[in-house]
Amino acid sequence: MAAMPPGWSELFEAATRIKGTHLRTLLQDEARNNSMFLTAGSLTLDYCRQKVDADIMAKLFKLAELSGVEAKKQKMFAGEKINETEGRPVLHVALRAPRDAVINVDGSNVVPEVWKVLDAMKAFSDKVRSGEWKGYTGKPLTDVVCIGIGGSYLGVEFVFEALKTDPEAEAAAKGRRLRFLANVDPIDVKRALEGLSAETTLVVVISKTFTTAETMLNAKTVKEWLVEGLGTADCIPKHVVACSTALEKTKAFGIDPANVFGFWDWVGGRFSCWSAVGVLALSLQYGFGVVQKFLEGGNAMDKHFQTAPLNENLPLIMGMLAVWNCSVLGHEGVAVLPYCQALTRFVPHIQQLDMESNGKRVQMDGTAVPVGTGAIYFGEPGTNGQHSFYQLMHQGRKIPAEFIGFSASQNPIDLPGEPVANHDELMSNFFAQPDALALGKTAEELKAENVPEKLIPHKTFTGDRPSLSLLLPVCDAGYLGQLLSMYEHRTAVQGWVWGINSFDQWGVELGKVLAKEVRSFLSDGRKGAGNDSKFISPTKALLKKYLE
Ligand code: F6P
Repeated sequence: MAAMPPGWSELFEAATRIKGTHLRTLLQDEARNNSMFLTAGSLTLDYCRQKVDADIMAKLFKLAELSGVEAKKQKMFAGEKINETEGRPVLHVALRAPRDAVINVDGSNVVPEVWKVLDAMKAFSDKVRSGEWKGYTGKPLTDVVCIGIGGSYLGVEFVFEALKTDPEAEAAAKGRRLRFLANVDPIDVKRALEGLSAETTLVVVISKTFTTAETMLNAKTVKEWLVEGLGTADCIPKHVVACSTALEKTKAFGIDPANVFGFWDWVGGRFSCWSAVGVLALSLQYGFGVVQKFLEGGNAMDKHFQTAPLNENLPLIMGMLAVWNCSVLGHEGVAVLPYCQALTRFVPHIQQLDMESNGKRVQMDGTAVPVGTGAIYFGEPGTNGQHSFYQLMHQGRKIPAEFIGFSASQNPIDLPGEPVANHDELMSNFFAQPDALALGKTAEELKAENVPEKLIPHKTFTGDRPSLSLLLPVCDAGYLGQLLSMYEHRTAVQGWVWGINSFDQWGVELGKVLAKEVRSFLSDGRKGAGNDSKFISPTKALLKKYLE
């Protein structure tokens, strides 16, 4: 292992010390627990079930300082080109800045540009929603199909799903449908278009580069579906719009430049749902007013991240704990566990956000990071996950968990005769699981309960499994904005400590290049002229089998 940069060795030493102290013991210290119970606005973070104490937190804050987290954060907010491998600023925060904010890139304020596109999306979505904008045959466009993948899909779908049962958003979406077509699998085309009529469908092609193979093929496929359904290619200007930074390419695809909603190279794919990527589709579905609350929520968390001191800064603390668990304690996974069915697509989005950002092993200067980086993210809404993978979390591997819960439900139900309302039933689990993981159950406790001797090893829970709990008031647009912005900053903090570039994604390229070679082989192969000399023999054999 390479020499440790300043601040790390102290943490590895502290880890050796704290490993011997069970969470059961740590949790007896009330002063410690209270110091780890934090609020920011209406958000609460309780991290007392992490394997840390005041000394370790001080060392983690010191590491943040030594790694230049504060300076890097300021550079990000100031529009400096911190994405060095691509020579770009990282300014998703500008997408949710208020109209009067000033954020300069190369000497010019980008905020008015952001608001110009927001205003255009508001005007367009209002027209579509009111029926003023009509389809080719004169019918209002009640259905929207978004075509995009990765960062041009996951965040939008997460917010769409999360607001589907929010009373305000639900009322605003009455009579409207929003679908997503992401996978290049033709099965996804069938699923996305099922039951839709070309006459009433608006297609939104979402692609930053407008070159992504999956999106381009799906866009062509759905274009064909529209032309077939409406009998003429003249329908396209009324039925297809785009969200992209590549205006020349959208034009070449046949999309009216007036119907292209732009964004900028300083918006990274996985941070882009605050741009046209998410705002257009979500405004079409829920109205711009709801989306604006989401943007404002994101901005409120930005302000907290910018101004709160280290020991009160929620995203900073979450980022440093993620570093501690991954790099120092050696935990390879993170379970994200929302106790809210509306967050059904939150984890896939966080998976891309964190794993595409931090799944890297070299620092900005190309040298290897001397500690382990980037965890494996997975999860499911509770309580469903409890009946699936929690077994492994309780008695198998130690996986740091992040519990997310809401004080109130989007859909309160209180059945007469039941001891608690349905949301309280859900939340009973949200409160119980972190304690079960941390405290476990000892052989002595089992013996006292007269558990047969031979079952004791099977029924023992070793505990000492770290988690943190986040409690928010309710799953609405504003709090969703805060939650997502918090996870984005949490992701950036880790990257800054590791010295990696969390804002590029070269690791997705090699597979794309190889797929290109296979594609051209298959194209020739179907005509009986495929040349497989480029492939290794196992690949040749499998390709041969496939073509048979
Ligand atoms: O998976 C790689 C990736 O480049 C993501 O980072 C990006 O969000 C996605 O593909 C889609 O890219 P685009 O918006 O250019 O179609």
